[in-house]
Formats: sequence, C-alpha cells, structure tokens
Amino acid sequence: MAVSIRKATPEDARGIVSIWQEIVAEKAHTVMRKAFTVAQQWAYLNTLEDREAIFVAEGDGDILGFQTLDLYADYTHSMDHVGVVRTYVSAERRRQGIGRRLAETTFQFAHEQGYEKLIARVQAKNSLGKPFLESLGFTPVGTFLRQVRLDDGYDDQVIMERFLAVAPPQSTDASEAQSEGLTPKPRPLTLPETEQVEVRRARRSDFPVLVTVVSRITGRSPKVVEGELKESFLWRSYLIGATKSGLGVISWYPVDVGAYMKGLIVYPEREFEPIGGALLDTVEKDATKLRCEAALLFVKRTEPASRHLFYRRRGYVSQDMEQLHSTWREVAEELPSEDELIMLKPLRQDVSSSPSESAEEE
Ligand SMILES: CC(C)(COP(=O)(O)OP(=O)(O)OC[C@H]1O[C@@H](n2cnc3c(N)ncnc32)[C@H](O)[C@@H]1OP(=O)(O)O)[C@@H](O)C(=O)NCCC(=O)NCCS
Repeated sequence: MAVSIRKATPEDARGIVSIWQEIVAEKAHTVMRKAFTVAQQWAYLNTLEDREAIFVAEGDGDILGFQTLDLYADYTHSMDHVGVVRTYVSAERRRQGIGRRLAETTFQFAHEQGYEKLIARVQAKNSLGKPFLESLGFTPVGTFLRQVRLDDGYDDQVIMERFLAVAPPQSTDASEAQSEGLTPKPRPLTLPETEQVEVRRARRSDFPVLVTVVSRITGRSPKVVEGELKESFLWRSYLIGATKSGLGVISWYPVDVGAYMKGLIVYPEREFEPIGGALLDTVEKDATKLRCEAALLFVKRTEPASRHLFYRRRGYVSQDMEQLHSTWREVAEELPSEDELIMLKPLRQDVSSSPSESAEEE
C-alpha cells in the first residue's frame, strides 16, 4: 500500500479520532484517558495557528497515523522557537517507517516556521515512544516523577528534546512584546481595504479580538463572553467575516449529517446582509464538503423581522422542535434554545427535513 504524508485538514478529524481511540484503548502510550470526539478534533484543526500543524499518513484513503506540532507556549514570544511534537501510528502499521516519515515532514515544516527546538514527553513505561524518539535524535533531558496517574499507581514522564538547525531570527516588534501576559498573544485584526467580504477561520490568537467584538456587538460583559467562548472554542469553529467597514462572527460545528450554526452577529447592522451572507455561504460550503445534509441555524426570536426574512430568502425554513427529524432534534435539544428558533436549509436537493437513510445508518 502506498503511504503518503500530508498536512491534515479539518475533514481529517474522523480519521485522526479513530487513531486516538486505538491509542487510548491501549492504555500505555498516551496520558489521555478518553479520545477526543470528532467535533473536538475538528474544532482543534480549525483553530491551529499558521505555525502549527498536524501531519497525517494516509494509505488507501485511511489515516494510518499522525504527528502534531504545537507551539510550546502561546502566552509569550520568548519560546516561539520551541515546539511540541506527539506521534501516533495505528498498531497494525507500526515499524514500517511511518513515524519516521511523519517526523521528516514535521521537522522540515518546523524549520521553515522558525522553530529551533522540539520537545516530546513520553511516559517512562512506554516502550515504543522512547526508542522511536531517540532514533529521531531526541535526547532525554529530565524526568517528572510520578507525573501520570494510572489505574494501578503512577508513571514518570521523560522529557526529550531535539535541536533543529537554527532558523533565521523572527522579528519581534514592540507591540508584540507588550502583548505578553497570561492571555494568548492576540492576533491584530486587520480589516480589508474593500467592501468585498473576507472570511477566515478564527485561530486561538484571535480569541481576545473575538471576546472584544462579541461583547461590543452584543453588549454583554467581556468576562461573561470570555467564559462562554473559552468553552465553546473547544468544539465549535468560529468564522470571522470582515469588510473595510464591518465585522461579523458565526460559530458552527458538524454533528452527524447536520451543520449547526449559532450566534451570527454583525456590526454595523447595515452590513448584516453582505457579511452575514458570506459567513453563511462559507459554512454551507464547508458543511457540504463534510457531507452534511442540512444546515441548522439557531436564530434569536427577538431578532428583527428583516433578518428572519433574509434567512428565508436564503432557503432557511423555521422548524418546530417536534417537526425536526430525531437525528437533528437530539443535538438541538442539548442547546439552551428557549429564546431561539431553529431554521433549517437542506444542503442537498434530495433532502427535506429528514436525513437520508444512508446517512442515518453511518
Ligand atoms: C512510537 C510510534 C509513533 C513509532 O511509529 P512507527 O511508525 O512504528 O515508527 P517507525 O517505523 O518510523 O520507526 C522509526 C525508528 O524508531 C525506532 N523504533 C520505533 N518503534 C520501535 C520499537 N517498538 N522498539 C524499538 N525501536 C523502535 C527504530 O529505530 C525505528 O527504525 P527501524 O525500524 O529502522 O529500526 C508508534 O509506535 C506509536 O504510535 N506508538 C504509540 C504512541 C506512542 O507511544 N507515541 C510516542 C509518544 S508521543
């Protein structure tokens, strides 16, 4: 079987989770006790910074293994040159050079991105991780004792590092230095210079901007908004839409065959249709790629009638909870939606308000 290595996209969430499930079940090679859900993995892939990545090994359309590269610290610039790697290969495909090939790609990417050193942490009892990392040039530099609690005692954790060729110095200007603190380094929000709507996924470094924008537009306290966003950032993707004179945000996530959208907000109101429309277009396009059959939009009942009309013009039809097919209702009911209305738009021509048989069987 030909195995190829490539950068993961959010659509790889399911394949990556299947590897996580395997590794977690082994109870020996990760500190995680539960595998991430597909939604969590998907959201994580969506919020990766430009300098972070997951590389996957793929064969016959299946994900066989993956390696993650994350910033060591996202609250200061002084460790921007340090990355953390984690590697997981399906048990059936180990000792076939997949881990090494993933590492070659990750190291190259890391070097290009200005990393000078990579860190890995491995449980002392993990007989696979340490020799693998040593074969890649990592050396043990210390041990955290009794760091991992197991079902039957504790395990130590060995810290390993590997230097890469020194990368050209990264520029750090004064405003970046000032941004240091206990919150993630904020990404400055640059508005486009035209009325053309630019839509992009929010990354972790957009978090402070998102908190400010959402609290300003909704008039809610930044502390409350920050708490809510922190939690939902773990499982939803946020999109930011901007023109030179307006800004909008929407969050969404796929579950089964539905794409659930919440909290479309735009400022100022006169920009609602172009920015809101571009955000909805982007979600619908991404959801179609994920084979979602319908988009479900949670709309505040108190929103102006003009917006309800706008959604209807775009093909969204309001649904009573009882009308919703049970697949979608289950998820919809989990969300506190007393003051919200659900509007549904089929994303495929053959879908009305119920998912297809084949999708239900998946
Ligand atoms: C560790 C792991 C990622 C290695 O992936 P892999 O695809 O099997 O590794 P490779 O086949 O590319 O091996 C590269 C080299 O690592 C070393 N190595 C890998 N597995 C080894 C093992 N079980 N025992 C001894 N050396 C090993 C060898 O030097 C190997 O080269 P060789 O096969 O030419 O002798 C894989 O075993 C795994 O997923 N383990 C569970 C998760 C884990 O422990 N992750 C590491 C912690 S982050």
